[in-house]
Amino acid sequence: MSAASDADFKAEANKRSAARPVADARTLVRLAAAPWSVAILAILCTVVSAEGSARPSLESAALAAGKERFERNCGICHGLDASGGGAFAEILKVEPPDLTVLSKRNNGSFPFTEVYNAIDGRNAPLAHGRAGMPIWGDRYKQSIEGGDETLVRGRILELILYLEFLQSY
Ligand code: HEC
Repeated sequence: MSAASDADFKAEANKRSAARPVADARTLVRLAAAPWSVAILAILCTVVSAEGSARPSLESAALAAGKERFERNCGICHGLDASGGGAFAEILKVEPPDLTVLSKRNNGSFPFTEVYNAIDGRNAPLAHGRAGMPIWGDRYKQSIEGGDETLVRGRILELILYLEFLQSY
């Protein structure tokens, strides 16, 4: 390899590592620390491979899917950055909570089960559905052909992965 192409190669490699989402390392560290991560990744593995999507890495693919879905389904009430005050918030009786402080409000640990149930809504206390938070478990089930529960869970888990990533701790 000539000196010039060696330099080109290094420049390309640097460019690629710079282009990689900074999120990756942080997410991996947090994931490794979270006891539920193994279960989530196992389920996401099934879902992601079932959908056959290309994946640079499982975590970043799932995180990106969660971010996209959050912006599409949740931002209108919770704000695009999840900190509350979305466009719809004003007309709701109950203010959509800031979703970046879920861990902070729970002594620094992410309240996985509560968040799962709040999003799914089907097992949550009636108040959740009535207070303005849609029952996503039902919505996703209806929007997925055949109503496959594994895919419903996959969508919710991707959202949770993204929410966990957004925590300010
Ligand atoms: C139509 C407005 C609206 C939309 C859209 C919406 N939410 Fe909510 N959400 C609310 C409201 C209002 C509450 C508070 C409900 C309550 O206190 O009973 C809430 C509560 C929550 C909670 C519980 C937070 C806590 O403090 O325990 C979570 C988690 C949550 N939403 C996640 C989501 C996610 C994820 C999405 C998108 C898939 C979403 N929400 C979409 C209005 C909305």
